[in-house]
Amino acid sequence: MQRQKIIAGNWKMNGNLAFIDTITSELNNLEFTNNITVVLCPSFVHLSALSAKISNKNIKLGSQNISEHSSGAFTGETSADMLNEISVKYAIIGHSERRSIFGETDNQIAEKVKSALANGLTPILCIGESETERAQQKTETILSQQLQPVIDEIGIEKFKDVVIAYEPVWAIGTGKTASPEMAQETHQFIRQFLANNNAEIAEGVSLLYGGSVNAANSKELFAQTDIDGGLIGGASLKVDEFKIICSTAQGS
Ligand code: PGA
Repeated sequence: MQRQKIIAGNWKMNGNLAFIDTITSELNNLEFTNNITVVLCPSFVHLSALSAKISNKNIKLGSQNISEHSSGAFTGETSADMLNEISVKYAIIGHSERRSIFGETDNQIAEKVKSALANGLTPILCIGESETERAQQKTETILSQQLQPVIDEIGIEKFKDVVIAYEPVWAIGTGKTASPEMAQETHQFIRQFLANNNAEIAEGVSLLYGGSVNAANSKELFAQTDIDGGLIGGASLKVDEFKIICSTAQGS
């Protein structure tokens, strides 16, 4: 099965209108093959401005978070429905910074995934272990604990519309990348965990690797059997580097 390749750029709390002009003028002209989707995830305030500048059909808009609620007294929050209305197609959910800094729980994240799907957004569900958890050989336990509540909440069949990003917390923004072999081994575990519920669905899920991906290491990572693209932080803010990462994914 040909899985969709995805490169998602997570700008975090970075970027401005000038950067939107620069990156779109560079990326709009690229010719992508049909099996690749590039997702740009700016801050909420920049979504509309970016949306207005995207003219390449392979480039989609993504948010960095959503509320699990559909409407109501939740000051500062944004619902999936509101995002859908302004052409957002993807939503990063459960990023490790949301989990560690903002205290999001596995159950809350499962509800967010459900809300995204109910409102036509493709969730990019982030999972990953900390350095201590890996050292204690708890990686598989942690990933299972992060995945199971989502399976329980939405049912395995809905994973046909879910993208998963494996991001070891110790590799995010640190310059320390998982080796291609280590990343592949973990991706294989994630796919097998899904396959234990439904083998056909598991085969079709795009699994992205994230954590210090750059132009130099992307080729070997994307060459791995179970790695279908990347969730890119720091390098998504460097236009030349991001362009190389996108073209590497196309060639893999
Ligand atoms: P990084 O971030 O590429 O800067 O490590 C990845 C992420 O946080 O999604």
